[in-house]
Amino acid sequence: MVGEAVLESVFGDDREVITRYVDILASRGIDRGLLGPREANRLWDRHILNSVAVAPLVSKGASVADIGSGAGLPGIPLAIVRPDVSVVLVESLLRRSVFLTEVVAELGLDDRVRVVRARAEDLEGSFEVVTARAVAPLSRLVGWTKHLFLPGGELLALKGSSVADEVAEAQSSLLASGLVADVRPVRAAANLEETFVVRVQSVSRETQPVR
Ligand SMILES: C[S@@+](CC[C@H](N)C(=O)[O-])C[C@H]1O[C@@H](n2cnc3c(N)ncnc32)[C@H](O)[C@@H]1O
Repeated sequence: MVGEAVLESVFGDDREVITRYVDILASRGIDRGLLGPREANRLWDRHILNSVAVAPLVSKGASVADIGSGAGLPGIPLAIVRPDVSVVLVESLLRRSVFLTEVVAELGLDDRVRVVRARAEDLEGSFEVVTARAVAPLSRLVGWTKHLFLPGGELLALKGSSVADEVAEAQSSLLASGLVADVRPVRAAANLEETFVVRVQSVSRETQPVR
């Protein structure tokens, strides 16, 4: 469970919607195998708050593709706290994409959240922001998604403590593609655990001011 003060400060008026989402994850999400049974007690801190930590890095009004969304993370919490963005949840597995479609409709997000069953590599389109969490190592993720965010957009990948190793490992392939990565420590609220976002964008964009 999460404290009322955190719920209020992070979600404000969206408390009710995010709580409904957590209830769905804790029941149907686990029954249908989208999350392991051990996740029930750590949905808020390990999944929801970790997901919304990326929100401040997403530019206003952005079109977002959340790759390998699984049970909807980080795409659904992001869409809830950022009503200005539109989100496409991209998931390759049919069973998961069916679950996502149901949840998006139930939460009343279907006016700006869409579900697409596809592998990222096969997806067409152009997005200002691509998000991903727990999908693949950075180098592979960049290979799968760069056609979706280049030339002018960016990849925001949520990572844990292995972040420095992943960036180092991806460095030569990033450079070869004219890309640059920077790592930002983020947290959903001041007293919560820190996590990391790797931002990947084209070298030519890097010189522009941070929004
Ligand atoms: C470990 S889960 C993580 C799910 C979610 N992002 C999270 O943080 O809980 C990885 C998800 O990515 C999906 N996936 C794996 N490779 C993919 C690809 N190439 N394109 C789209 N989805 C993919 C899997 O089906 C799975 O649902």
